[in-house]
Amino acid sequence: MEPILEVRNLTTQIPTRRGLLTAVDDVSFTLHKGEIFGVVGESGSGKSMTCRSLLRLLPSSARTVQGSAVYRGSDLLRLPPKAFNQVRGREIAMIFQDAMAVLNPVHRIGDQLTEAMLAHRVVATPAEARARAVELLRKVGIPAPERRLQDYPHQFSGGMCQRLVIAIALSCQPQIILADEPTTALDVTIQDQILKLLIGLQHELGVSLVLVTHDMGVVAQSCQRVAVMYAGQIVEIADTVSLFTAPKHPYTRGLLACVPQLAADGEVLPLAPIPGSPPDLVHPPAGCRFHPRCPLASEECRHGTFPLQQVGQQHVSACIKHEELGPLS
Ligand SMILES: Nc1ncnc2c1ncn2[C@@H]1O[C@H](COP(=O)(O)OP(=O)(O)O)[C@@H](O)[C@H]1O
Ligand SMILES: [Mg+2]
Repeated sequence: MEPILEVRNLTTQIPTRRGLLTAVDDVSFTLHKGEIFGVVGESGSGKSMTCRSLLRLLPSSARTVQGSAVYRGSDLLRLPPKAFNQVRGREIAMIFQDAMAVLNPVHRIGDQLTEAMLAHRVVATPAEARARAVELLRKVGIPAPERRLQDYPHQFSGGMCQRLVIAIALSCQPQIILADEPTTALDVTIQDQILKLLIGLQHELGVSLVLVTHDMGVVAQSCQRVAVMYAGQIVEIADTVSLFTAPKHPYTRGLLACVPQLAADGEVLPLAPIPGSPPDLVHPPAGCRFHPRCPLASEECRHGTFPLQQVGQQHVSACIKHEELGPLS
């Protein structure tokens, strides 16, 4: 497994009226070439801010105050703006949750698709860009692509817009795609289609994909490895099979218990949501941030720091009590 992106100690803060909010706290992970790497966690755990920090697309007041993200020998966080603009969109693309917020309502689909290709000189001429735009629309399953190039985003349904955003992300043949909840804004029936499209394209193109989701079902269907985020920190990273069969963090266990399960007789088992709510990231709890909600918490969990420890071959966890977690029944 060859690394393509190495994120180390990434920390991003946002000033708020109540004080400094640490949205991403000392996050480290490695993305391998050609894999789908899931990032899961409840809403507000720092998943989007992690992606945005990597692509330097933060709210104007937010600052990445520590860390590195090494891609092809350069730290993305320290590249001069001009060099960074060669990477963003060209080598590393992002797909956001809300397609409508990305698409420009007054520009034709065709122009929005060809813009990055021409700017990054992936194609030599507008005619070549147009031909490639048609091919891309076909690839993401948009019928009558030649005609559709003339349309405006409002003429597309939500699902079609997300297909279009995927086409734009693919247009410059990136090495890495950061997909931030790419299906969350869509109808349930469309979600599955778009996810399958994205996974199919990832397999076909061999691109490395970071797939951010709050949906454990999506992770099970698509990812090779997964990072679990809680309160701005990564608390567990594992291959998908280990994560689902033998999670080594009580928070992960809690997330899995939130997924509807069927009993042998077809009865839907009751959900067990994690009690309490995620902490305030301006004043997070001392010690393990999960301890106020954790069934295993004891005195030693209330103080100190909890770095990720090796707990299996491809498996790290921040929980010092992981041995008390038996396999899932
Ligand atoms: N523009 C912003 N201003 C202030 N706080 C923000 C802003 N965006 C996100 N946050 C805070 O940063 C933390 C992480 O948010 P985010 O990365 O969006 O979480 P996730 O994507 O996991 O739902 C949350 O506490 C959220 O409230
Ligand atoms: Mg988010």
